[in-house]
Amino acid sequence: MADIRSVGIIGAGQMGSGIAHVCALAGLDVRMSDISEDALARGKAIIERNMDRQVHRGKIGEDDKVEAIARIGSSLGLEAMSGCDLVIEAASEDEQIKREIFKQLRPHLKTEALIASNTSSISITRLASTTDRPERFMGMHFMNPVPVMQLVELIRGIATGEDTVKSLRDLTLALGKTPVSAEDFPAFIVNRVLLPMVNEAVYTLYEGVGSVDSIDTAMRLGANHPMGPLELADFIGLDVCLAIMQVLYEGLADSKYRPCPLLVKYVEAGWVGRKAGRGFYDYSGDRPVPTR
Ligand code: CAA
Repeated sequence: MADIRSVGIIGAGQMGSGIAHVCALAGLDVRMSDISEDALARGKAIIERNMDRQVHRGKIGEDDKVEAIARIGSSLGLEAMSGCDLVIEAASEDEQIKREIFKQLRPHLKTEALIASNTSSISITRLASTTDRPERFMGMHFMNPVPVMQLVELIRGIATGEDTVKSLRDLTLALGKTPVSAEDFPAFIVNRVLLPMVNEAVYTLYEGVGSVDSIDTAMRLGANHPMGPLELADFIGLDVCLAIMQVLYEGLADSKYRPCPLLVKYVEAGWVGRKAGRGFYDYSGDRPVPTR
């Protein structure tokens, strides 16, 4: 079984930086990679801000933060992945992009290194088949915001070996998270249940059953959800929500998963939620304002 001491993370976005954050706090060496210096700088700023938040709330000490940040290296390209025991891919939710990354990663990996994908919906078996080590490949799906959310879904592909499962389960526990096993079917467990609810909330808006505010208030106060479904969609990213619905729709060939046309329209407009400053809410002012 692999002893994981150094982790490479491909993608310094919301998820990649969150994964780097929890790995570094757990004492692992982290190598974060992205395609631009800007993306790396943004990722490092997210980590710094979120660790500051934990320091202010007394969850970690200032020393823990300084030491964890010192454990995070960052670079363009994938050469830095050569010393890693595990590489976690957390790039965009686009199968072609992920395939290309796994192809480019191949010459840089140690023979015994494991690969995990943080995909939120794409087939692990199919992604594994694009690598030279399907038995050492598996899905490791973190939830957003990673430093706060307890769950990691572990998804084994058809060829994933027992040692790989055991190593990633142990790592999840070492990160202070709770692992749950999911079979390799479209969108696994969390997104199979959560995203149709989000998509249905967009239909509810599209059909005029409620406004953005009434739908979110209804689900926050009527179902005790910490965020309303439209607020959550903006938080996840409407492009990611749409990509997951498309995987469900095509992968399960069932019309009940058809993405709401209004969700498609928002994505076409580039109004993809918080990261774009606009989605079902406008984030340009002091407080989010509904856009419908
Ligand atoms: N990093 C570190 N800490 C953070 C954080 C971050 N990014 N975001 C929030 N926190 C901490 C806060 O410091 C605070 O800590 P304390 O409890 O110690 O005080 C705590 O989390 C609560 O934060 P806030 O008081 O600022 O705000 P809140 O009470 O509104 O909670 C939230 C924010 C945790 C995000 C909450 O709204 C929530 O749980 N929302 C739902 C999140 C969710 O459903 N995530 C799953 C999305 S689906 C997914 O990720 C899968 C996928 O593939 C799409």
